[in-house]
Amino acid sequence: MKNMNRTFPSTRLRRTRMSNFLRKLTSETLFTKNDLIWPVFITEGKNKRDEIKSMPLIYRYSIDKLISELDVLVKIGLQAVALFPHIENSKKDQDGSLALDPDNLVCRCIKEIKKKFPEIGIICDVALDPYTSHGHDGIIYNDQVSNDQTISILKKQALIQADAGCDILAPSDMMDGRVLGIRNSLEKNGFKNTLIMSYSAKYASCFFGPFREAIQSEKLIKPINKKSYQMNPANSNEAMHEVSMDISEGADMVIIKPGLPYLDIISKCKNEFKIPVFAYQVSGEYSMIMAAAKMGFLNLDDVIFESLICFKRAGSDGVFSYFTPYVLEEMNKKVPG
Ligand code: PBG
Repeated sequence: MKNMNRTFPSTRLRRTRMSNFLRKLTSETLFTKNDLIWPVFITEGKNKRDEIKSMPLIYRYSIDKLISELDVLVKIGLQAVALFPHIENSKKDQDGSLALDPDNLVCRCIKEIKKKFPEIGIICDVALDPYTSHGHDGIIYNDQVSNDQTISILKKQALIQADAGCDILAPSDMMDGRVLGIRNSLEKNGFKNTLIMSYSAKYASCFFGPFREAIQSEKLIKPINKKSYQMNPANSNEAMHEVSMDISEGADMVIIKPGLPYLDIISKCKNEFKIPVFAYQVSGEYSMIMAAAKMGFLNLDDVIFESLICFKRAGSDGVFSYFTPYVLEEMNKKVPG
């Protein structure tokens, strides 16, 4: 870089940090309400709002309750939601067959949201873990999570969700070739404009722990081990191969997950591929911040906003965050800028 020979005292880098207006003028990144996606848990029933123990202030909403929540959030700028169903254990089976019922919880919820709030974006996981009795993302054959058999189910799951009105399908199971399978089946069935946001680099991470309590998949096999399909946290080049293959198979956008511990992957992915990249600030990241704030060790508001700007600085276009309702409310109160 040309100006890297700047020397003291002709250059004093503190000059541009001396006042608020200068810090604002020289800010290299900006976080706006448009960068947020709200991941939300849904459950059967009416007028229900059940708190998730390991995620304080995060709830599983019945569809009607979620609609009233959205009523408030859409008015203050919510752009998109990602739906995660909590399914009763009695309705789960080996193959996750409920995933293919066009009248399941997720499909009913998509329709209800589209009816009331046609302008907001709906993102749905394409994966079987909420529906399988063993809690894995795929079906089990010969004691293994079977790649190709799982894909044939995912293709159908994708279609019924697209048919219900889902805007963006997010394959989250890390099977090889699932983006291609889903894209082809969408094209063949007339869903040309349904997008695919692939969880391209999803790591076998302990930061997903609280999520598994939320959708109650953790009680089934303990501890559940997804290392034969999710990535090794030690790997970074492999993540670029995953992203590159997903793009060539037809992914419109990609997700890196978890978020903060994997900022290097976000940055590398953005620099190499220049495509829309999304960070997922996962359940465990949420719970860590909440726990530290509750103990008085960290200031909640400051940590949330700092973590969000860091995602943007690293190169993500947007962020899945459980803090979304809180952030929208706070941003609404704050004077612009
Ligand atoms: C399921 C799925 C998981 C998350 C999103 N989709 C968990 C997992 O793979 O075990 C994690 C989200 C979070 O921790 O917030 N395929």
